[in-house]
Amino acid sequence: TDRYAVIGNPVAHSRSPAIHARFARQTAQDIAYDRLPAPLDGFVATVEAFRAAGGKGLNVTVPFKVEAFDYCTHRSARAAAAGAVNTLAFRDDGVHGDNTDGVGLVRDIGQRLGFRFEGARVLMLGAGGAARGVLLPLLDAGVARLTIANRTASRAHELAALAGDARAAGCGFDALGSAASGEGFDLVVNATSAGLDDAAPAVDEAVYDGVRLAYDMVYGARPTAFMRQAGARGCPAVSDGLGMLVEQAAESFFIWRGVRPLTAPVYRDLRAELA
Ligand code: ATR
Repeated sequence: TDRYAVIGNPVAHSRSPAIHARFARQTAQDIAYDRLPAPLDGFVATVEAFRAAGGKGLNVTVPFKVEAFDYCTHRSARAAAAGAVNTLAFRDDGVHGDNTDGVGLVRDIGQRLGFRFEGARVLMLGAGGAARGVLLPLLDAGVARLTIANRTASRAHELAALAGDARAAGCGFDALGSAASGEGFDLVVNATSAGLDDAAPAVDEAVYDGVRLAYDMVYGARPTAFMRQAGARGCPAVSDGLGMLVEQAAESFFIWRGVRPLTAPVYRDLRAELA
C-alpha cells in the first residue's frame, strides 16, 4: 500500500480523502490517502516526517502552497507559472512539484460544462494566489482575451504582466462595465475570496450581460453569492467549483499513479453528499 495525504491547516474538512478513495477503488490502485494536519510553522518538518515514514506524495492546500513550491527540487511549467504547488511526488531523483488547479478548472469548465475556450473572452475576478494558479492553463486553453479584474487594480496589473501574454490585461473593478471593458465576456470566473464571507465581488452587474457561464472557484451546499449575483442578472449557466476540486484531484492521481480515473461519477457522489 502506497501512502498519500493532503497537508494543510486547517485540513479536517478536506474532501480529498473521499475523492482519492473513490479513484483508488475505481482503478484498483492499492493506496491509502489521509489528512495530514501541520502547524503553521511546521510545514517542512511535517512533510519530512511523512516522507521518512515512506509517504509517496502529498496534496497541498491552504496555506502551504507557496512553501511547497520552495520545497521542491523539480517544478513543472504549470507550477512555475502558478508560483505555487498543490501536488508533491516523492521520487528517487527528488521532490517533484506540480500545480493541477488550473487544469482542473479548465477540464471542469470544458468537459463537464461543455464550454468552448477557443476564442472565448474571459473575465477573471481576483488577482491573488487562486487567480495566479489558473492563469497559464486558461491561456493554454486558447482563450482570445483574458481580463483580470481586481478590487485592488495594481495587483491585477501585476498579474497580467506576470502572464507575459498579449491576451492578458489587468484592471480594477471600477473599469468594468464601462466603455473601457470593450464588448463583453463569454465566461466569468470568480477567483476572489469574497465568497468566504458569503459576499459577491462588488462589480457592476452589467458585466454579466451576454455571459454564457459564470463559474465560482469555491463550492458549497448552496449557490454562492457570486452565482446568485450572476443568475439574477440573467446568466444562463452558473456553477460552483466542486467539479474543479474533483478534476484537480484526478490530475494529481494521474501524476502519482499513471492512471486516469473517471471523474463524472465521483462528482455526482460528492454533489449528493454536499446537499
Ligand atoms: P487566494 O489565495 O484565495 O487568492 P489571496 O491571495 O489573499 O487569496 O487573494 C484574495 C483575492 O480575493 C484578492 O484578489 C482580493 O482582492 P484584493 O487584492 O483587492 O484584496 C480578493 N478579495 C478578497 N475579499 C474580497 C471582497 N470582499 N471583494 C472583492 N475581492 C475580494
